[in-house]
Amino acid sequence: MSKPRVAILISGRGSNMMSLIEAAASPDYPAEIATVISNRPEAHGLARAQAANIPVRTVDHKAFPDRTAFDAALDAVLEEEQVDFVCLAGFLRLLTPGFTEKWRGRMINIHPALLPSFRGLHTHEQALETGVKIHGCTVHFVTPEMDVGPIIMQAAVPVMEDDTPLSLGARVLAQEHVIYPAALRLVCEGRARIEGARAVIDEFGLADRALVVPGA
Ligand code: GRF
Repeated sequence: MSKPRVAILISGRGSNMMSLIEAAASPDYPAEIATVISNRPEAHGLARAQAANIPVRTVDHKAFPDRTAFDAALDAVLEEEQVDFVCLAGFLRLLTPGFTEKWRGRMINIHPALLPSFRGLHTHEQALETGVKIHGCTVHFVTPEMDVGPIIMQAAVPVMEDDTPLSLGARVLAQEHVIYPAALRLVCEGRARIEGARAVIDEFGLADRALVVPGA
């Protein structure tokens, strides 16, 4: 049986993208990375995907008059590539409600904070300013409102007294690379789905939903 086809949408360096590509290279991974799409032609991740033999596409948002036209072009590429699931991995464009509704339950995102805390950008700065002692990352289904969709998996890391946004961000990023492939696996196996405001995971063990990483 052929595996579900996944598109990864990026805007930048693509380290989460690489974690998904590397996981999917394993024969027992339940998904195939069919394509990587960037809205920025200069995104570093494109070369990294190409080096891993993944077909890449660019849909440059600057070429479209508005978000609706851009999303329509993006959707056309996803259909052309016969994509089943979409992973946003550092994709820095707001998507229109029409697009997110169409891909509801089939599109996930990684956010560098423990949602619902610290939505938006500069999450590590926000965490340090607030003085939280635990920070982390979240994989969630994408819904029209940014950084709000049903939570599939989270990882928590400690915040140290001498952390900078850079050191804290690096600690979080290492865990992003663990939970994103794990969460995509759940979704592609049909074990994670949206029920109301929540994501429900079938037959979960604790490691399927949450990781707490002790120490630095
Ligand atoms: C990650 O921190 C991710 O959580 C956020 O954007 C960053 C992308 O980094 N959405 P990369 O391109 O995956 O390296």
